[in-house]
Amino acid sequence: MDWGMQNRLSQILKPDSGHTVMLAVDHGYFQGPTSGLEEPGKTIEPLLPYADALMPTRGVLRECVSPDTQTSIVLRVSGGNTMARVDELSDEIITTSMKDAVSLNVAGVAVSVYVGSAHQKQTLQNLSDVVNQAVKYGMPVLAVTAVGKDMVRDSRYLSLSCRVAAELGAHMVKTYYCEGFEDVVRGCPVPIVMAGGKKIPEKDALTLTHKAIQGGAKGVDMGRNIFRSEAPVAMMKAVRAIVHENASVDEAFDLFNTEKNT
Ligand code: R5P
Repeated sequence: MDWGMQNRLSQILKPDSGHTVMLAVDHGYFQGPTSGLEEPGKTIEPLLPYADALMPTRGVLRECVSPDTQTSIVLRVSGGNTMARVDELSDEIITTSMKDAVSLNVAGVAVSVYVGSAHQKQTLQNLSDVVNQAVKYGMPVLAVTAVGKDMVRDSRYLSLSCRVAAELGAHMVKTYYCEGFEDVVRGCPVPIVMAGGKKIPEKDALTLTHKAIQGGAKGVDMGRNIFRSEAPVAMMKAVRAIVHENASVDEAFDLFNTEKNT
């Protein structure tokens, strides 16, 4: 692997554990000022020191994140639709050029694929086009296996999505936890990070994190279960304990409660 590619990947997957805690704050690209991210800078600033990588759009990166941050950036580069036309969310384009990603000095780029949707081929084309550009610059590509509201998030479907993304050249894949997650991981030759999904109680989110890591995930790329937590920094620390220090769910939840009260 090219030095630049290895160097950037090591900024995301930390070399000591091979794992990562990514903070997803890209929701505004289709949801607008969603709950918890009304003022992105205020949400991001206290969490940034605890994230191995931050996943924003370029607008939020430029306007709301200090350029002296030491946290690596995985830049969302696909989008182009909104909740105003929810049935067309899969109709994505590439919104951000590789040149801009390089000028922003990011450690990776993220593209959604909507397998099984009306725009499956287009989103797989988006991923392929981004990989073709990214490999020229040593830029890792994270494929995000987005699911339409009609998709069943089972291991058969997620295995298909993850494997296709890896076959097209993604260097990492973000996907949901499901029963049979080990099968999803086994069928995907590149590292998988778990998406958080909608907000659930903190202990449940920590349980999901633990199951995903035990099932072979290399980390999480979590948003709402962090920034909508009653104590976001405490939640980040608890997730980190599972991902990087092999903590149990109870240990992580104790840490959450302790941190929440300090
Ligand atoms: C989904 O396609 C996007 O990447 C989301 O905006 C985000 O990454 C989801 O994060 P979470 O489900 O943990 O809130």
